[in-house]
Formats: sequence, C-alpha cells, structure tokens
Amino acid sequence: MTHKTTRISGYKQILVNPKFRCLIPDYSIKLQNFASEIAHSITQKQKHIHPKFLYNDRGSKLFEKICELPEYYLTRTEISILSRLTSELSKYLKEHYRLVEFGSGSSTKTRKILDILCQSQEEVEYFSIDISNIIKESSRSLLQQYDNLYITGIIDRYEKGLEFIQTFDEQKKLIIFLGSSFGNFDADSGRDFLEKIHSTMNDNDFFLIGLDLVKDKKILESAYDDSQHITADFNLNLLSRINEELGANFILQNFEHYAVFNEKKSRMEMYLRSKTEQKVHISDLDLSLDFKKGELIHTENSYKYSISQIEQLADEVGFKITKLWQDENHHFAVVLLSKAKLSQHI
Ligand code: AVI
Repeated sequence: MTHKTTRISGYKQILVNPKFRCLIPDYSIKLQNFASEIAHSITQKQKHIHPKFLYNDRGSKLFEKICELPEYYLTRTEISILSRLTSELSKYLKEHYRLVEFGSGSSTKTRKILDILCQSQEEVEYFSIDISNIIKESSRSLLQQYDNLYITGIIDRYEKGLEFIQTFDEQKKLIIFLGSSFGNFDADSGRDFLEKIHSTMNDNDFFLIGLDLVKDKKILESAYDDSQHITADFNLNLLSRINEELGANFILQNFEHYAVFNEKKSRMEMYLRSKTEQKVHISDLDLSLDFKKGELIHTENSYKYSISQIEQLADEVGFKITKLWQDENHHFAVVLLSKAKLSQHI
C-alpha cells in the first residue's frame, strides 16, 4: 500500500513520503480556538486553562523530560508492564489489525505494540492522533525502525480523531490510549470519550488503556512537583504561550506552580498561583485581569483510579475487561477492553 492525497475538509494534508502522511488542521482555525477558549476560561470565577494547551512545541518537549524524571513513576512503570505483556497480548492479535493511537506523543510506548504487529503482519497501518507537532518527528523515527509500517499522523484534538476513525471500513483495529492521558479528562467528558470509542468498535476490536492507580499522597505529589522544577516550567509555559500568541504581559516570576492531591476526588490538581496582587493585560483579547495574592488558575486534573473504579467504569460503558495487568507495586494498570456482548451488558 501507499498513501494517496485525498481531500479531507478542514485539514491540510502533507504527503511526506509514500509511507507517511500528516493531517494538519487549518492554522487560523487553531489560533482562533485558542483565543476564544482562553477568553472564556480565564474570565470565570475560578480562572482556568484547558490542559490541552500545555502541549505547544516547548510544552511537548518539557513533557518528554517529565517522563524521564525519577519522581514521575508513570512512564517507566507503564513501559515495564507493556514490556512484560507483549507475548500475552499477541495472542489476542492473531489476525490483521490496524493500530489507532490517541495521544501518541513521542511514540516510545507505541513501539512495544508495533513490535508485535509489525512482526506478525505483512503491512501495518498506524493512525496516530496527537495535539502536538511531535508526531512528525516520532513518525520519522518509527519509519526507520519498521519497514512495513504506514503512518497517518493527525495533529488534532481527540474528538476530531474520533470523527476520523468513524469513517473507517470493517478492518479490525486495536485502539490504544496510554500514559494515563485518560486521567486528564473529567468524569463526564471521560465517559463521553469512552462511549465514542466504544461506538467506533466492532466485535473483534480491542481497546488498550493505561491508567494510573491511587497511591500514597507523597508519591503522587512529588511526581507532579519534581525537584528539578521541570513540571513547574511545563505549567508556567502556559503563561508564556498566552504572552506570545495573544499579546499578554504575564510576568512569569509573579506566578508559581502548585500541585496537590485531592483525596476526595481522587485526582492530582495542578494550578498556577499568583504570588502577589497584580493586573495582567491580554491585548489581542482586549482583556484586563485582576489577580489577588494567592489566587489560583486551575490548569490540570489527573485522576487516579482504584481497580474497582476501573471495573465499574468499563461495565457502565459496555466494555468487558479482557485482561488487566499491573506492576508489582500496584502503581499503574494497563487494561485490554473489548465490547461486552449485549446479553452480558444488560
Ligand atoms: C499527559 N498526562 C497524562 C500527564 C499527567 O500525568 O497527568 C500530564 C502531566 N502533568 C504534569 N505532569 C505530567
């Protein structure tokens, strides 16, 4: 197979080579979305910024660094689980599967799955959906490693990626959503996302999801407030981004990173805290903001699950847990889901 240029509305399609095409949303639409979302969220009583905006080029690079931090146990724990499960997983993927990944980032973990598919199949089609430009770099490096791989990179929000895969034919697919990115959804949007994934799946499709588990508060809080302050830079980068793209005058030294585990809601919460009383102007939005000393801008939630919560959620959406793997410390879970048979679900 080779990729051909077909027109997809709202996207500029770049055929990098016959094995790699990239779909990029119209830039003016992207910028307009950023401006209008910020104008709304930063003027609410609880000022907030959606975490998807953390991932501009600089933010994505900082996130890659976070994944390597000693305190950020999530990435290495998930990779260790994935490394152990490959032979078991390959038993479920005997036939021809197309791979779809949400939040692919640098595709480090994807390699564990591609090792299985590229070995057992003649050709592998891989659709990677990520808000960040990092897809371009990671795809190039994947193509060097796997000769029989064909990549479509979709640089867009997950919802748009979902619309895209809804147009697929009947070919079996394995959808993966790793890195605990699901934890960044709030309950309603998370369930909505799972229901949409579920609705795109056929009987023999699988959905592999990585979820971070509830654990000691100290371990959690240091994972989100590391000693090298990389997570702080990652969070503060949101303000730099508003300065650069929307003409704001945030003084970064006047804000600090704050991360806390909310036990009741079972989630890590990330904020930017104003160190003083101050005024900020966002000129492109013609907006003046007042900050009190100690006032918080909410920037991210990262939910942590118990096994029973995972079971309940899967059941409510209509998934069957085919297999659930954990590390020995029970810090992280990787779950293989398939569609529950109707009779089981009712
Ligand atoms: C991408 N996501 C799963 C990360 C998390 O752990 O919630 C983002 C992150 N925020 C701070 N550190 C990492």
